[in-house]
Amino acid sequence: MPHDKVRVELGRRSYNIEIGEQLLDKAVFYKTEHRKVLIVADANTAPLYMSKVTAGLTASGATVHSFVIEPGEQHKTFATVEKICCAAVKAGLDRRSLMVALGGGVTGDLTGFAAAVYMRGIGFIQVPTSLLAMVDSSVGGKTGADLPEGKNLVGAFHQPEQVIIDIGTLDTLPPEELRNGTAEVIKYGVIMDSELFAQLETVNCRISREIIARCCGLKARIVAEDETEGGIRAILNYGHTFGHAVELLSNFQLSHGCAIAVGMAMAGQLAVAAGLWDESDNKRQQRLLETAGLPVRVSGFKPADIWAAMGRDKKKSVNKLTLVVPVAIGKVELHNDLDKTMILEVIGSCCD
Ligand SMILES: NC(=O)c1ccc[n+]([C@@H]2O[C@H](COP(=O)([O-])OP(=O)(O)OC[C@H]3O[C@@H](n4cnc5c(N)ncnc54)[C@H](O)[C@@H]3O)[C@@H](O)[C@H]2O)c1
Ligand SMILES: [Zn+2]
Repeated sequence: MPHDKVRVELGRRSYNIEIGEQLLDKAVFYKTEHRKVLIVADANTAPLYMSKVTAGLTASGATVHSFVIEPGEQHKTFATVEKICCAAVKAGLDRRSLMVALGGGVTGDLTGFAAAVYMRGIGFIQVPTSLLAMVDSSVGGKTGADLPEGKNLVGAFHQPEQVIIDIGTLDTLPPEELRNGTAEVIKYGVIMDSELFAQLETVNCRISREIIARCCGLKARIVAEDETEGGIRAILNYGHTFGHAVELLSNFQLSHGCAIAVGMAMAGQLAVAAGLWDESDNKRQQRLLETAGLPVRVSGFKPADIWAAMGRDKKKSVNKLTLVVPVAIGKVELHNDLDKTMILEVIGSCCD
């Protein structure tokens, strides 16, 4: 089976991302050093993949326990982190033990957070099964949970020891979740990889191992350069300031992928209005988003409400709204000086 390996270079905390097919039950991919392991999966992924991962880990010499959490963003809470930690105590995990996150970004963020705080921090392995988790959330060490006051307001930077991506798991992923992940894939093309963008155009956004490995490589590069988001990592927020605003205003009825697709459409339109980007490139972005089945417009919101919600984005730096805007396919810039009237007009032009 062809198989890709991407290295995340972080000195002592460097790790590999293995990308291939039928990896889950293969002992050779797990570097568990005979430790005790707690696999955490949600109730959707557990019946599908828990036995395979258990077999692979057991064959690698680990002592394996498992714990199933409830699926969904609404369970991405401290309460679930506590349940995972209690399960770890019950399973007898010590400071040398490992947690394994098997599932989408919710499972990965929660399990990583639990691993970061259990006995003041133990190791963990990411086994992402959603496209979003494969190309985005499983790489880079951001872990956390939501508060009633907002998403991802608590968390820790805690790098995994390994990321194991079996692209075969995408076969069971609901189509709308595949589409959500595709929005992040397109994002990578626009912000830093014109070849990836062109490739997505050629294959009409059909996701392959090669594309996933390419995205992991891009994320690995950014994380290696800026682990804790002091600088370059901010470009990953492309489309997210506008996107989070519409996601919030829709009361999360609009999925994250759809929201950031609209966000990218708005950021692209803004770049054109500001004279930073060619209209033809903006059209290419729009077409690619539409090819993936993603929206480029929203309805039912007032531009002023979207603007106000953008101001509440936790990632804005002190009082100034910094926006990531494209200047070419494969290149973005950060701007905090764009005119409010222009931004409002652009938002309006993407609203029905
Ligand atoms: N840590 C980071 O850097 C980072 C980056 C981006 C997003 N995130 C977080 O990731 C989360 C979103 O991740 P997500 O979109 O994967 O959501 P998710 O974990 O809720 O997964 C989406 C749905 O798909 C199901 N699922 C996952 N894999 C499956 C498979 N192979 N077959 C069948 N069903 C499957 C899940 O059970 C869930 O119902 C958010 O909480 C977001 O904040 C984190
Ligand atoms: Zn995102």
